[in-house]
Amino acid sequence: MDAGCGTGNYAKAFIEMGVRKMTLLDASSGMLEKAKGKLSEYITMGIVTDVIEAKMPTIPFPDETFDAVMFNTVINHLDRGNSAFPNSVNTLKETVRIVRPGGYIIVSSMLATTASRVTWFTQLNMDLTNRFIAECILSVEQFDKIFEDAGIKCIQKLNILGSDMYNTYYNLDGPLDESWRATSSYWSFATKEDVEVAVQTVQELKAKGEYEKWVKEHDQANSTGLLTIFMCKPLLAN
Ligand SMILES: C[S@@+](CC[C@H](N)C(=O)[O-])C[C@H]1O[C@@H](n2cnc3c(N)ncnc32)[C@H](O)[C@@H]1O
Repeated sequence: MDAGCGTGNYAKAFIEMGVRKMTLLDASSGMLEKAKGKLSEYITMGIVTDVIEAKMPTIPFPDETFDAVMFNTVINHLDRGNSAFPNSVNTLKETVRIVRPGGYIIVSSMLATTASRVTWFTQLNMDLTNRFIAECILSVEQFDKIFEDAGIKCIQKLNILGSDMYNTYYNLDGPLDESWRATSSYWSFATKEDVEVAVQTVQELKAKGEYEKWVKEHDQANSTGLLTIFMCKPLLAN
């Protein structure tokens, strides 16, 4: 199951890599309509078996239905601004119920340290970045606590490099371009003024001929990674 599937990009990639059965779930009917369009061929072929609108923690499936459940940049959006993380814990408890014995629960997210120190574009406006982190970006310790409270165990953490995630990640003029900004949920937190601060920073650095050097000094996404994947299992699984 691709839980919080958005427009289905990751479900599609998994199917193209050989997954033979896939369920999609999201709270947004608009996202699901786009996913249905993108995956129509696989729906017809019976590879995508269900496309379900549901608001997690509710996951309306019987016990032990899935071999694996994936949350790609989803868990961190379930409790915006609430550091007790009740929805995240309850969603993962529900996942323990619907996953088969020995199955995987896969959670991925950007981490707070990544947003503040690793990705170059988030350092163009640190006020915006600090609000973004407070609202929906967690630390490793916060994820570990959520997993413990939900009864799951992280067996491996993987970091994915920036250029492996987006081929436009190092588009240095990206912050000036609305369509580039639309490729990252980070910018959806930005007010018009926030965008102006970032744009002005880019323009000032460019005017001084220091922009490329600044980006090199402020970016580690191709060495330490941009997205962190937590490979987890229910605690009682074999
Ligand atoms: C940042 S997007 C990630 C989408 C997709 N996983 C991807 O990586 O492209 C977060 C998604 O989680 C969905 N979402 C947020 N809260 C949800 C909830 N309580 N239940 C189900 N889906 C939710 C949103 O509608 C959105 O599609």
